[in-house]
Amino acid sequence: MRLLVCGGAGFIGSTFVRLRVGEQGDEVTVLDKLTYAGREENLREVADAPGFRFIRGAIEDPEAVAGAIESMGAHHPPEAIVNFAAETHVDRSIAEPDAFVKTHALGTHVLLEAARAAGLRYLQVSTDEVYGSIEQGSFTEDSPLRPSSPYSATKTGADLLVQSYFHTYDLPAVICRGSNNYGPYQYPEKLIPLMILNALHGDSLPVYGDGMQVRNWIHASDFARAIGHVLEHGVPGEVYNAGGPDECANVDVVERIIELTGAEESQIEYVADRPGHDRRYSLSSDKVRALGWEPRVRFEEGLQETVAWYRENAWWWEPIRSGDYREYYERQYGRALS
Ligand code: NAD
Ligand code: TYD
Repeated sequence: MRLLVCGGAGFIGSTFVRLRVGEQGDEVTVLDKLTYAGREENLREVADAPGFRFIRGAIEDPEAVAGAIESMGAHHPPEAIVNFAAETHVDRSIAEPDAFVKTHALGTHVLLEAARAAGLRYLQVSTDEVYGSIEQGSFTEDSPLRPSSPYSATKTGADLLVQSYFHTYDLPAVICRGSNNYGPYQYPEKLIPLMILNALHGDSLPVYGDGMQVRNWIHASDFARAIGHVLEHGVPGEVYNAGGPDECANVDVVERIIELTGAEESQIEYVADRPGHDRRYSLSSDKVRALGWEPRVRFEEGLQETVAWYRENAWWWEPIRSGDYREYYERQYGRALS
C-alpha cells in the first residue's frame, strides 16, 4: 500500500511503520512534528528503505499536510492517511491541556479535509480511554463515550469528527481503538518504561494512589497489526476495538518489573493519586477478531522482552533521560532523577 502515516516517529506509529515498510514493503511517507515524544531514530531501521520518506510538519498545518500528500507524486497519491499524531500522556494533559486540544481537534480536522479533497481513505488511531472507566466486564464499540481526562476528551472529540465526515461527506474512514500499549521505543513518561528505567537506576518507583488500577495491556506490535488489519479489511464508518490478552493491576506490573530487573521492593513509593484517575480499562475485541486479527504476545512474555530491550538499548533512552525529561520529571514527581 501507499500510506501517509502521521505521527509515525512516535512509539506506536514507528512500530507500525517498521512493520509496514520492513515486512510488507509498503510505500510510506511519515509526517511528524517531532514533539518531545517523536524521534527520527525510532525509524532508523527503515530510513533507507525504498519508498520511505520522512517529513517534519504538524498535522494542524494544512500546507504541511498538502505538501506531504504531493510529495508522494501526483500520479501516486497515498491510498490512505493513518493518523497516530497525538499528545498522548494523561498527566501532561492534566497539567497543560492546550496542545491536546490543538492537535486532536484542529489537527484531525485538517487531515480529514485533506483526505476529503484528495479522495483518500482515512484511519484514526484511538484509545479505549474514550469509554472512561469500567469496574466489571469490557467495553464494546457500542458502549457510551465517557472520557474523563483532557487527553481522552480531546481524543473523543477527534473520533466524533471522524465519524461526522463519514456520515456527512461519505469519507471512507475507520477508527481503531487500542488498550494500553507497551514495548520497545515507548517514551519513559508512561508506566512501564518509567518503572523499568527507574528500577534499573535504583530510583524510586512512584505508584499512584493504591496501585490497584487495572489496565488491559497490548504489545505495540499487536496493536500495529490490528491497525493494518482494520485498514485492509475494516468497513468504512465502523469502529474496531483492539485490546490485549491480559489485564493487570499497576502494582502487580511494578512487582514483576522489580523481579525482572533485580530491583528492591523498597524502591516502591506510593504517591498522590492522579486527579480523575480511571480505575479500570477493559476492551472487547470480538469485532476485530472477526476480521481475522488476534493478539500474539502474552503480557508476561512481552514484559520480559521489553525489559531486555531497555537494558540493551541505552543509546535510545540515555539522551531522553538526561534532557528535558528531567525537568518534566521534577515537575511531575517533585524530585530529580539520580
Ligand atoms: P507518542 O507520544 O509516542 O507519539 C506521538 C507522535 O505524534 C510523536 O512522534 C509526535 O512527534 C507526533 N505528534 C504529536 N503532535 C503532532 C502534531 N500536531 N503533528 C504531527 N505530529 C505530531 O504516542 P503513541 O503512544 O505512539 O500513540 C500513538 C497514537 O496511539 C495516539 O493517537 C494515541 O492516542 C494512540 N493510543 C496510544 C496508546 C498507548 O498506550 N500509548 C493506546 C491506545 C491508543
Ligand atoms: P500511563 O502509562 O500514563 O497510561 P494511561 O494513563 O493512559 O493508562 O499509566 C498507566 C497506569 O499507571 C495508570 O493507572 C497510571 C499509573 N501510573 C503510576 O501509578 N505511576 C506513574 O508514575 C505513571 C506514569 C502511571
